[in-house]
Amino acid sequence: MIKKVEVKQLRPGVYIHRFGGSWLQHPFLFNQKRIRGREAIEQMIDWGMDYVYIDTDRGFDVEDESRSGESEAESAAVVEIDFVEDIEEEPPLLHVPLQEEIVAAKAVRSKSRKVIKRMLDDVRSGKDIDIDASQDLVTEMDNTVCRNKDALLLLMRVRNRDEYTFMHSVSVGALLISFCRSMGLDGEVCRVIGLGGLLHDVGKMSVPLAILNKPAALTDSEFSIIKQHALYSQDIFEKMDHIPETAALIARQHHERFDGSGYPYNMKGDEISPAAQMAAVVDVFDAITADRCYHQGLDQVAALRKIYGWRCSHFNEALVQRFIRCVGIYPPGTVVRLESGRIGVVVENTGDLRKPVVRVVYDAGQDWAITPLDINLLQEDPQSGDRIVGYESPHRWRIDPLRVLGIGNNLA
Ligand SMILES: [Fe+2]
Repeated sequence: MIKKVEVKQLRPGVYIHRFGGSWLQHPFLFNQKRIRGREAIEQMIDWGMDYVYIDTDRGFDVEDESRSGESEAESAAVVEIDFVEDIEEEPPLLHVPLQEEIVAAKAVRSKSRKVIKRMLDDVRSGKDIDIDASQDLVTEMDNTVCRNKDALLLLMRVRNRDEYTFMHSVSVGALLISFCRSMGLDGEVCRVIGLGGLLHDVGKMSVPLAILNKPAALTDSEFSIIKQHALYSQDIFEKMDHIPETAALIARQHHERFDGSGYPYNMKGDEISPAAQMAAVVDVFDAITADRCYHQGLDQVAALRKIYGWRCSHFNEALVQRFIRCVGIYPPGTVVRLESGRIGVVVENTGDLRKPVVRVVYDAGQDWAITPLDINLLQEDPQSGDRIVGYESPHRWRIDPLRVLGIGNNLA
């Protein structure tokens, strides 16, 4: 049963179904949490939280006298659950077929390039940010992500090397919206964090173009100038009174690292805003997968492995796992090799991230193209059915994943 109780009534072993007030007003990453010790309750009181909603089917009741004599340690031991698993399943999003949603997603992508390029140009020339245009764009991005979570993200992979700065902003915004939606966050929260993604690098507009667009790796002194952009963002936002605080936090803190090794403040752990912790994962993922003037981006699978490797240092481990679950171990558009020797492109994920739907197009054993065929690996026989044995470079097999998915690459 869900019931509203005062924070001061809480005790270890109670399961919080939802916090009172906005998610943005407390530092917990998830709205659902099991109370393991009195420290968490004291923190909530310190943060000025008055009430929460508890689920008595998943934890103790505040009025459960039969358990009131248990020691705190006993209560905590009884309810010990891996934090990562202690989350509700994603809410069902509308599943409009990819082929259908791609039309709307293309329009959103095209509009986002123009809106964000203009916004960044405005900032560079000292004008105010057109926040209404940015918020309208975020709403359109959110709408397409809710209809089909893959369409816009697939399109974001197509970009020219010379448009990195603004397409990176667009891509981080889209990824953050998708990430938030996969975590079941409120629509308002998803959109304000998405806005933070679009604005996260505005401070770069205060960096000299010669450094920002340098077609080679940066020197140490140039990199130290680039690192100032988190502070420059703060200066830019301070002159405006209509930037949501969460979006400003993302701009200030997205280079902070969970282990304190980031910049500009060397913040650690939960000192970093939850939204900025999410943005940090997304920002790095997008940056290392993007082709730049001076280097080729990593495949998404390789990038996810790197992110996973940083889960206990740079990032919040729970968020890394949630992000991988959001984009998939094999994100749509990934070229994979099946045990049968067939090569295909991941079309969409299923309930098991290791078993997506794959469109096979090539037989590596025979070395010839085959008639495209969709195979749902989740429905394959566990003993005799096919399975993924690895991911492949699209260049090696001369496969254009978007073309295989029927999306084409004629994007504006
Ligand atoms: Fe940045």
